[in-house]
Amino acid sequence: MNHPEDPFSFLVTPGGTLRGRLRVPGDKSISHRAVILGAIAEGETRISGFLEGEDTLATLAAFRDMGVTIEVEKGGEVRIQGVGLRGLSAPSGPLYLGNSGTSMRLLSGVLAGQSFVSELTGDPSLSRRPMGRVADPLNAMGADIATANDGRPPVRIRGGKALSGIDYAIPVASAQVKSCLLLAGLFATGRTCVQEPAPTRDHTERMLVGFGYPVEWTSNGVCIEGGNKLQGTQIVIPGDISSAAFFLVGASIAPGSDLILEGVGVNPTRTGIISILRRMGAEITLSNQRTVGGELMADLQVRSQPLHGIEIPPDMVPLAIDEFPALFIAAAFAEGETTVTGAEELRNKESDRIATMAKGLEKLGIDAKPTTDGMIIRGGAPIGGRVASYGDHRIAMAFAVAGIGSRRPIFIEDCASVATSFPSFPEVASEVGLRIVADKEGSF
Ligand code: S3P
Repeated sequence: MNHPEDPFSFLVTPGGTLRGRLRVPGDKSISHRAVILGAIAEGETRISGFLEGEDTLATLAAFRDMGVTIEVEKGGEVRIQGVGLRGLSAPSGPLYLGNSGTSMRLLSGVLAGQSFVSELTGDPSLSRRPMGRVADPLNAMGADIATANDGRPPVRIRGGKALSGIDYAIPVASAQVKSCLLLAGLFATGRTCVQEPAPTRDHTERMLVGFGYPVEWTSNGVCIEGGNKLQGTQIVIPGDISSAAFFLVGASIAPGSDLILEGVGVNPTRTGIISILRRMGAEITLSNQRTVGGELMADLQVRSQPLHGIEIPPDMVPLAIDEFPALFIAAAFAEGETTVTGAEELRNKESDRIATMAKGLEKLGIDAKPTTDGMIIRGGAPIGGRVASYGDHRIAMAFAVAGIGSRRPIFIEDCASVATSFPSFPEVASEVGLRIVADKEGSF
């Protein structure tokens, strides 16, 4: 969420190492899904490790507004009294979802199947993001969904329409579109099948199984049949690999670093960051691997190693889609050139991450050429300076870890958005050695 009235910045002073052990907050994608499925399941769902970030709290608040009782206890313990697939009640006004694209796209699927009218709104960043990609296939299922100009929010959903299953080939690899359609499919008559152009995170499918809902995997996608029930369950949410990514990069580039990240989710549809960093020369080892509630978890150890530039294979892009801000920083410190192609989706995130990262890297003195679908970065020695985060949490945290290896301090503007996914980032990072100060702008 943007907080223009409350500017907040990071100042990172170079030097030091990242050492010790840390636990990153719960996975954002899985936290959203746990609340959504818990709310429309029968009976109680208990969640541990829930991410108490602004994005996931926006999803939680939306379900409270629709009459679901949800208690949040200390330490990420959440209890949801599920109301069943047909038990949500009409919210009293528009559901405001802040910065959260996942909330808007996944809720569109649930709300398409309700009997009431609803409206989804968001902050200026979310209001620029494409929603036609969910509205169009939902309308093809029989829903009545309108968006504002050009397929942007607000999303207005006129419920009470009978949905029918669909066989839909998603044009762009997107777990949010896949999940939206699967959620709508719960309320539809017949089978809903989604085919993906490339594999994307499969947390929805796994969690549906955890709630006792039958799911059928196909060679390039997934199908569900409407009309079954979800049964409340217990969910343990692993640490978010997208938050761990900043430390994997920071510890790789700061000589002498040796860091253990405990209990990180390593679902194979999310581990592109590890594969890509290893190809660049990083030393990352996994231990204590275990499966908890259908999701794989491990402790990650990262030790500093010199990195070298690579061509990132386009088929790895969806498996690391949220980690490119961190990967661009790794490339900035690597020897030689790193090329990213097939990543035009980065332009549709909380900011246009190709443009915003290229601008920031250039300010740090790095040769970074944005292309329509990626970036070419010539690694070097980032100088330091003042960069904008454009209100994008991952841009803010990426430039913060760059500060450990830059020649001069890095000042990052407008960092309040880190509260969407990692509210404790400055504290956690400084505990393991990042020389970061978070403060009101102008007070440094
Ligand atoms: C998410 C899917 C990804 C990702 C986003 C979270 C999810 O988006 O970028 O941060 O939870 O399903 P797309 O599926 O639109 O690429």
